Amino acid sequence: MLIAGGRLIDPLQDIDSLLDVRIHAGTVAEIGPHLHASAGEDVFDATGCCVAPGFIDMHVHLREPGEQEKETIQSGTAAAAAGGFTAVACMPNTKPALDTPQRIQNVVGLARAASFAHVYPVAAITAGRMGKDLLDYRALHKAGAVAFSDDGATVMNAAVLRDAALAAAGVAGAFISHCEDAALKGSAVMHAGKTSQALSLPAAGGVVEDVIVARDLLLAEDTAKKWHIAHLSTRRGVELVQWSRTRGGNATCEVTPHHLLLDDEAVARLGAEAKVNPPLRSSDDAAALRSAVRDGTIDVFATDHAPHSFADKAGGMLHAAVGFSGLEVALGTYALAVPDLSLRRFVELLSVNPARILGVRGGTLRVGSPADITVFADRQWKVDPQAFYSEGKSTPFAGWTLPRKAIATIIDGHLVISNGSLATADTLA
Ligand code: DOR
Repeated sequence: MLIAGGRLIDPLQDIDSLLDVRIHAGTVAEIGPHLHASAGEDVFDATGCCVAPGFIDMHVHLREPGEQEKETIQSGTAAAAAGGFTAVACMPNTKPALDTPQRIQNVVGLARAASFAHVYPVAAITAGRMGKDLLDYRALHKAGAVAFSDDGATVMNAAVLRDAALAAAGVAGAFISHCEDAALKGSAVMHAGKTSQALSLPAAGGVVEDVIVARDLLLAEDTAKKWHIAHLSTRRGVELVQWSRTRGGNATCEVTPHHLLLDDEAVARLGAEAKVNPPLRSSDDAAALRSAVRDGTIDVFATDHAPHSFADKAGGMLHAAVGFSGLEVALGTYALAVPDLSLRRFVELLSVNPARILGVRGGTLRVGSPADITVFADRQWKVDPQAFYSEGKSTPFAGWTLPRKAIATIIDGHLVISNGSLATADTLA
């Protein structure tokens, strides 16, 4: 296949220019201006589009095993591809949790059998994500885990987390911290502020997150483990990451679209459609996160795609499930949140950095690389959750007009998504 006429953005090759990309046998075969299509070669016209190394969402909840009514590996990866992602890392808060090599292998096997994007499982840090018993990190990594996290929960005992990090010291795969102090959070269902007061809802402030961000940055320093802070949501969290870097720390961090674009007032308008962990914070926190994207503090855009059924989201702020779908609105919401961000940095946050942090293939379209490619364009479109490939139709962005979208998603040289729709009913297998 030839991807012709597009603007190729490949930061690792320092490329940002009109160049065609030839794909052969699943890999990038040639890059150059005005390449000629050979006989029988398919041509994808990328005129007016950007062509980038495949986007990787390193924070996704696929609900398999255990909660396939919310999402399956197949529906979640269809949503990923539709959103422009060629790969996702999936979190271990499935039922049961991904805490044994066998369970990791099962996810890898299910994904191989029927998925629309590459799937990299993240294994738990503690057995059952209960925060107590350590696991065999080497065996989990060997089985296919690319990172470790009790995501959805925080490992609350600092000694357990330190011992886990020391046990995993020689194992590739970062620790990914979900930062919420359970005791400080108590029964809070949203951020504490004027809105929580007006709604008389149990609430807690950003300190819930900040104490764990600080703790985990210190543990990263003391254990020398590769470390990544998930879904940063506070100004002080940003400052703590900056502080750790002045000390030579190299922990990385991510931000979600919803924490960049929304604040706690959204709960008054949207109710449980805006219920998420960590919660939507103040407008000042959101502004600090947008600055942190611009100044380089934030390493990764990650959605925390958390699909739930309609019934699970229907219980009001006190009882509804936490989180919402993110994959299919990601590119548009990031572009809306930071419209002045350079496309080079956009690609770094969505491809180069997640590939590096996870230690997985991708992040560049150097000749010889796997042909995992995202074609996107600045085109306005309106969010209709009913059209999502994800089983999770809940999103605080329903009805929003977004300025950027995925045009094509090419995985292993196959056109999986074209103009927002699955180009094939066939999975990658
Ligand atoms: O909002 C969230 N939903 N945050 C999490 O950490 C977990 C996720 C889920 O699994 O639903």
